[in-house]
Amino acid sequence: MTFLLAQISDTHVVAPGHDGELYVDNNARLRLAVERLLAETVTPGAVLLTGDLTDLGTYEEMAIVAELLAPLTMPVFVVPGNHDLRSSLRTAFGMPWAADDNMSWVVDAGPITVLGLDTLAADQIDADGEVNHGGELDDTRAQWLDEALAATAGRPTVIAMHHPPFTTGIGWMDQTGLDDRTRFADIVGAHPHVTRIFCGHLHRSITTTIAGVLCSTGLSTIHQVELNLAPDARPQVVCDPPGYQLHMFDGNCWVTHTRHFDTGRAVIDPGWA
Ligand SMILES: [Fe+2]
Repeated sequence: MTFLLAQISDTHVVAPGHDGELYVDNNARLRLAVERLLAETVTPGAVLLTGDLTDLGTYEEMAIVAELLAPLTMPVFVVPGNHDLRSSLRTAFGMPWAADDNMSWVVDAGPITVLGLDTLAADQIDADGEVNHGGELDDTRAQWLDEALAATAGRPTVIAMHHPPFTTGIGWMDQTGLDDRTRFADIVGAHPHVTRIFCGHLHRSITTTIAGVLCSTGLSTIHQVELNLAPDARPQVVCDPPGYQLHMFDGNCWVTHTRHFDTGRAVIDPGWA
């Protein structure tokens, strides 16, 4: 049985009066993504959001995310990103959270098990209100991940997480990637039923392998991170076409397709037989 898992990432939904830097209409982009997803000829079996659902993590923003996602008719899975706050995410979405300070979860979806991993820094917000945008896999969550994977042995399992557990080469973003990457890879390597790893954070489609498992970051529905692999590249973003991804699992292999939307393009039928 073929199973289709859609991935939407880094939607950064805002509330009225938002005074931060915006390059596009973030909320309109999520609305468009949902509309386009529902128009796919094959409807995905589930939709996964890999973090940064909101821009500031407020309850108001999170409620707007839930409202924009409401038209989706399939199960929706969410993991927290560094722009989200656990408290508001917990209020808006009913995942089977492991704990208040470890909002990881495990769910079954068709032929696969999806394991959402909370990678937020323990000190995400410091006393001065400053946000730590980095990610980590501390002792508690490493143990949880290892035990959760042991419990799903025998079922094809994927891991969803916000911070990518690898160096992408885009230096200014790598500074806020996942710490404890070796620890993560060691745990994945000990559980051969892990078939795929889906991440967000990078606002760009990037692929590598972790302990032999295909691991990718999804593109954003808003601005993308500029592709600049120079070691001294300064932070830059670019309004490349937004999109989402469709990950197709046939019981053995994963195949990933990228759907761009809001590009002004139209499908052309050249009339060939
Ligand atoms: Fe983001």
